[in-house]
Amino acid sequence: MATNDVPALRAQGLCKRYRMGDQTIEALRDVDLTVRHGEFVAFMGPSGSGKSTLLHLLGLLDLPDGGTVEIAGEGTADLDDDALTALRRTKLGFLFQSFELIPNLSARENVLLPAEISGQGAAASERLAHLADQLAIGDRLGHRPRQLSGGQRQRVALARALINDPVVVLADEPTGNLDTRTGAEVLELLRRGVDDAGWTVVMVTHDPNAALHADRIVFLRDGGVSGETVTGSDDARAVIERFVGV
Ligand SMILES: Nc1ncnc2c1ncn2[C@@H]1O[C@H](COP(=O)(O)OP(=O)(O)O)[C@@H](O)[C@H]1O
Ligand SMILES: [Mg+2]
Repeated sequence: MATNDVPALRAQGLCKRYRMGDQTIEALRDVDLTVRHGEFVAFMGPSGSGKSTLLHLLGLLDLPDGGTVEIAGEGTADLDDDALTALRRTKLGFLFQSFELIPNLSARENVLLPAEISGQGAAASERLAHLADQLAIGDRLGHRPRQLSGGQRQRVALARALINDPVVVLADEPTGNLDTRTGAEVLELLRRGVDDAGWTVVMVTHDPNAALHADRIVFLRDGGVSGETVTGSDDARAVIERFVGV
């Protein structure tokens, strides 16, 4: 965890357009965002408001048409594909709605594969012992994904996201494929990791109960930031209702 004022993530003036035939869709218009180290931020917004697009740009999975993304103070605008890939592997962790685990690898192999690719296998293996404990998957590491429950799969995916000690974990609807109780367990793990281990999490969700686990909720509408609220206040739920209409 950084002790200075450089944020974990900073986006300035992010724009993204998609061309579909002769139509242009403005998926993001001029989005500014700062996420501090140790912060848990949720994005909410109606379908099509640009949440996934924003997460892709923050995760260096796609390039903006305008604006910049900085990770822990490091600019990314001038990086080539290899440098972007290296930055993704070392500084970012990803959590997806559909887990994205490789079916014919064990949980352990799924977690360690990215670290091994970047030559960090030994350190990652040591770190996994601790993470497995934290995420209560120690007795499941030899299992294939199909031998695991949904909640266990997402906890394995979370271990994979955290194995390289990333600056930030980016999560797109991480509880979207889980039942309410299992989803709440994953959210509690994220919350506890932020509070106790200093993780930094950016999560997209349409679920108010999921968003309320974050420290701060940023609302998107039509590709722009339409508002923001801190959680923990009595009226956070009312603010969500006002902005998202749920
Ligand atoms: N690859 C793509 N090609 C064309 N249009 C896209 C593509 N991805 C997203 N869009 C459009 O951009 C807008 C924002 O999409 P998205 O970021 O997926 O929103 P959300 O995740 O909030 O539902 C929508 O209008 C969507 O249809
Ligand atoms: Mg989406």
